[in-house]
Amino acid sequence: MKAIQIREFGDTNNLRLEDVPIPSLHAGEALIRNQACGVNPIDWKTCSGGGAAPFIGNLPFIPGWEFAGVVEQVAEDVTHLKAGDPVFGMIRFPDRAECYAEYIAAPAAEICKRPPSLDSVTAGGLATASLTAWQALFDKGGLQAGQRVLILGAAGGVGHLAVQLAKWAGADVYGTASGRNHSFLRSLGAGKLFDYQSTNLTDAVNNIDLIIDAVGGETGIEALACLKPGGTMVTLPSVTKDAVIAAGEALNLSVLPIRAEANAQQLAEIANLYDQGDLRICLAKSYPLDQAAEAFRLSAEGHVRGKLVLTL
Ligand SMILES: NC(=O)c1ccc[n+]([C@@H]2O[C@H](COP(=O)([O-])OP(=O)(O)OC[C@H]3O[C@@H](n4cnc5c(N)ncnc54)[C@H](OP(=O)(O)O)[C@@H]3O)[C@@H](O)[C@H]2O)c1
Repeated sequence: MKAIQIREFGDTNNLRLEDVPIPSLHAGEALIRNQACGVNPIDWKTCSGGGAAPFIGNLPFIPGWEFAGVVEQVAEDVTHLKAGDPVFGMIRFPDRAECYAEYIAAPAAEICKRPPSLDSVTAGGLATASLTAWQALFDKGGLQAGQRVLILGAAGGVGHLAVQLAKWAGADVYGTASGRNHSFLRSLGAGKLFDYQSTNLTDAVNNIDLIIDAVGGETGIEALACLKPGGTMVTLPSVTKDAVIAAGEALNLSVLPIRAEANAQQLAEIANLYDQGDLRICLAKSYPLDQAAEAFRLSAEGHVRGKLVLTL
């Protein structure tokens, strides 16, 4: 089968479309014929030697942690899936999952059936960002109806889904994004939006219960002043989390790091929200698998609205 593979860490020139064996099926797994896989910042960070690189073992490495496809075959002990089922998921994160490939051996307990309304290209980009948003808002952030939540990086993959999930949960949703994204985010349910290029956030908004920090670094640190006493920030970028946590400690504010986890039950709820029209995903662009390098370059520029997807 064809897969995108790197043989050394570095820039996008290392991404090669190569012939590799179809993965063999082990107990508890489903073999998936892949139709689409999402591109997330963790993919290019890892291929450049950062991100999840410490978890993936030896090179060569096939990147990718999320996919949408069709079940080709299941192991004998897998009873809740069968050949032909349309499925999607985020698997094995942060260990190697090898989703940038025509076939994937996926832990059956980590994946979810797709409703007919959820096509493969859309679903290919849904799992990682939506699980991150869900776990940041609800599992870590404990968001309640009526609370004020501020989403830093609201127009990105995680951010635009977090806006919608927070709104669905009955929160007052605030967000930061460049001005060109404000009407888009209003259409998803955001109330007040702040242009981070022209607004001093701490002058503009305060008394926030929960901040979802999808930007990190100085942006996360400066936004801490918007929290009310006892408020919480969940900070996503792992590379700056220690600095943001330390800044929170100095202000006696709770800053929680997060590592998104596979969760088939949460995915089923997310798929149901999509099916009911309560959640939509903005696909910025899709590329054929062999153009993964182009997708990595665009993602690394940091201004994608919504999601990038590779199709097979
Ligand atoms: N810990 C975890 O488990 C986990 C899981 C998922 C993601 N992450 C991390 O979380 C971060 C966000 O992920 P993502 O997939 O949402 O990224 P993304 O889709 O690449 O985010 C792009 C968005 O960031 C916005 N942005 C850039 N600079 C900004 C700023 N200073 N203020 C406000 N918005 C800004 C851009 O909006 P404009 O075009 O309007 O500037 C763009 O829409 C990444 O660092 C990722 O690695 C961590």
